[in-house]
Amino acid sequence: MQVDITLNPLENRQYTVFIDELNTLSFDCKVLIVTNTTVGALHSAHLQNLIKAREVHTLILKDGEVYKNLESLSEILNACFEHKLDRKSLLIALGGGVIGDMTGFAASIYLRGIDFIQIPTTLLAQVDASVGGKTGINNAYGKNLIGSFWQPRAVYCESAFLKTLPAREFAAGIAEIIKMAVTFDRPFFEWLETHDVRESAHLKYAIHKSICIKANVVACDETEQGIRAVLNYGHTFAHVIEHQTHYTGFLHGEAVAIGMVMANALSCNVGLLTQEEARRIQNLLERYDLPTTYDIASLEAFYTAFFLDKKSANDAITFILAQGIGAHQMRKDIPKETVLEALKAFHA
Ligand SMILES: NC(=O)c1ccc[n+]([C@@H]2O[C@H](COP(=O)([O-])OP(=O)(O)OC[C@H]3O[C@@H](n4cnc5c(N)ncnc54)[C@H](O)[C@@H]3O)[C@@H](O)[C@H]2O)c1
Ligand SMILES: [Zn+2]
Repeated sequence: MQVDITLNPLENRQYTVFIDELNTLSFDCKVLIVTNTTVGALHSAHLQNLIKAREVHTLILKDGEVYKNLESLSEILNACFEHKLDRKSLLIALGGGVIGDMTGFAASIYLRGIDFIQIPTTLLAQVDASVGGKTGINNAYGKNLIGSFWQPRAVYCESAFLKTLPAREFAAGIAEIIKMAVTFDRPFFEWLETHDVRESAHLKYAIHKSICIKANVVACDETEQGIRAVLNYGHTFAHVIEHQTHYTGFLHGEAVAIGMVMANALSCNVGLLTQEEARRIQNLLERYDLPTTYDIASLEAFYTAFFLDKKSANDAITFILAQGIGAHQMRKDIPKETVLEALKAFHA
């Protein structure tokens, strides 16, 4: 299975996401694989065996979102210089979204930009982070505030990597799959209601379907001037939850699951979603043991924190709301009182 991503037909910019077992990859250049301690220990030997290139080097970074920073970026760039990578060389990101985002960013600035390939090893990275060309790092001012749009040369989604993924990480990826279905594709949502994605044949279909949805969105709006923002469904709320729990209470996908339930409460209150539809979405999240509740200590503080999100700075907050199942609305016009009313159900 594969998905072709066409970014700008006029410029003929295109790449392919392969959803299959990884085979030998041959390159007539130097290659630097970037991974972390966890993924490296589990999977880098397998990958090194499959890569044929002039030289193959591997850089192993520390594992964790806290290391998605300038220091790790410097480590990648330094390794590029030490191994004398030139403009034809290739970086390969082997890992989850953290490794993918950092490696992509390094590729975009090393010698003003070299090629990179994504080999995502988390479900979240396979269905979301590795596709679409957003790269970046965090700093003291916030998440992903330094970065670039830099598309990979190819993406290889090998489901065998996911066998070693902890169950919570796996479920966090399913939250993003459910996100795509709710906002864009009702038949896919109904399929998810009747198929367990933990079964490998179903998993492959769900990965393929999610990548197709994201590919379409990114093809229409590479740099998030419009429809790409719909991929942030649940995220406006999730970012506040992640911030308030200091990025340690929940995995990103878990916070997104709660965020979608919150967004749905708002959708119901403004008449876009029925209670029954909201219940179906929540049931699907709960089937994968994703959290759907959160105690908001102060509604005012929660509301104020929406403005920490870079996407709503100096602007009205944009809420991405489900319009029934399978469609969405982007709303900037929702009064504060309406938002607080919807969040009351989550108030401790
Ligand atoms: N660029 C984008 O469009 C985009 C979209 C969504 C998220 N992101 C970014 O992605 C990051 C989150 O990605 P993530 O959820 O993959 O987190 P992650 O990269 O931190 O991976 C989660 C954990 O799983 C481990 N892991 C990875 N693959 C494994 C495997 N096969 N077996 C066992 N353990 C494995 C990792 O080492 C890590 O401990 C965030 O930094 C987020 O900002 C980017
Ligand atoms: Zn997300």
